[in-house]
Amino acid sequence: MKAVRYHSYGGSDVLVYEEADRPVPDVGQVVVQVAGTSYNDADSGLRAGLRQDMLALAFPHIPGLDLAGVVTAIGEGVSGWRVGDAVVALLPADAPGAAAEYVAVSAEALASAPRTVELADAAALPLVGLTAWQALFEHADLKPGQSILINGAGSAVGGYAVQLAAQTGAIVTATAGARSRDRVRSYGADRIVDYAVTPVVQALAGRHFDVVLQLAPAGPEENAQLVDLVADGGAFVSVTTPGPQDAGRGVRAVHVFGRSDVTQLAELVARVEAGELVIEVAERLPLADLAAVHARAAGRFARIAELAAQVEGGDLAERLRADPAALRAPAAAGELAGKTVLAP
Ligand SMILES: NC(=O)c1ccc[n+]([C@@H]2O[C@H](COP(=O)([O-])OP(=O)(O)OC[C@H]3O[C@@H](n4cnc5c(N)ncnc54)[C@H](OP(=O)(O)O)[C@@H]3O)[C@@H](O)[C@H]2O)c1
Repeated sequence: MKAVRYHSYGGSDVLVYEEADRPVPDVGQVVVQVAGTSYNDADSGLRAGLRQDMLALAFPHIPGLDLAGVVTAIGEGVSGWRVGDAVVALLPADAPGAAAEYVAVSAEALASAPRTVELADAAALPLVGLTAWQALFEHADLKPGQSILINGAGSAVGGYAVQLAAQTGAIVTATAGARSRDRVRSYGADRIVDYAVTPVVQALAGRHFDVVLQLAPAGPEENAQLVDLVADGGAFVSVTTPGPQDAGRGVRAVHVFGRSDVTQLAELVARVEAGELVIEVAERLPLADLAAVHARAAGRFARIAELAAQVEGGDLAERLRADPAALRAPAAAGELAGKTVLAP
């Protein structure tokens, strides 16, 4: 089969579109014919080896955390799934990913795909949808009537977060630029701040929110200013760089890493099918273009990594100093924004 793989950590140029063995299902696994995968910044982090002390990859590695596809083979001990079922999953980061024609995946990681959208487009849901869900309901404990500021609502995570928060009955203030403003409003945001016109902390000075959800890359100073917008006893929940742990005033600062949860994924899918949750796809490309997509994401990913290193220091900062090319090379024209779905 065709797959995108890399044989060592490095820049986007380590990604090669090549022939790989077609997987067979192990006990408890199914094989899925991939209809789509999507790009996430976590794919760049894994490829650059930034977290190799915590998560070491076996090479060659096939990237792609998000999966949408059709079951083609069933392993021993699997029940509940049949050949032909359309499924979605968030794959484990250290296992072969979905940037291939076929992938073997634990049957326990699967949810049925939404029947109301193109199957490939459903690959724009798992990681960012689960991250939004977990940030709002597990970490912020968002309740009807509460106020929330979603900073970076124009992002893919933000699109889901605005929709889910509005459906919960929260009062949603969202930052969005010209590209995203109308879409974010249509998702149910009550107020939009164009962060490109007025910095959010300036536009909202003196206001307080039960929850501030940080979805934009930021350094410690900007996060501290956003924490000032959290009401006493509220929550600052970040999916990018963490906020200060000693925020005071009873404010909780939480750092979120999205994880697989099939019950939550099935709930997200149910809302898509009910017409309550829109899956937004910014761009659809052939899988062979994945290296070019990583190259276009290099600028923004370098910024995220540098900010994370500023906040964390330690191994991450060391690694960035030792191998900056792993983040950037090679340069590419055009930035990435929103969800890019790739189909074999
Ligand atoms: N912790 C986790 O588990 C996890 C999981 C997924 C993603 N993430 C992180 O979450 C962030 C969003 O990811 P994504 O894949 O959803 O990205 P994305 O869709 O590509 O988002 C890019 C958009 O973010 C908005 N943005 C960027 N900088 C901003 C700023 N300073 N203020 C306000 N909005 C800003 C812009 O929206 P406009 O169009 O409005 O300008 C931009 O188009 C990334 O930093 C990513 O690394 C974390």
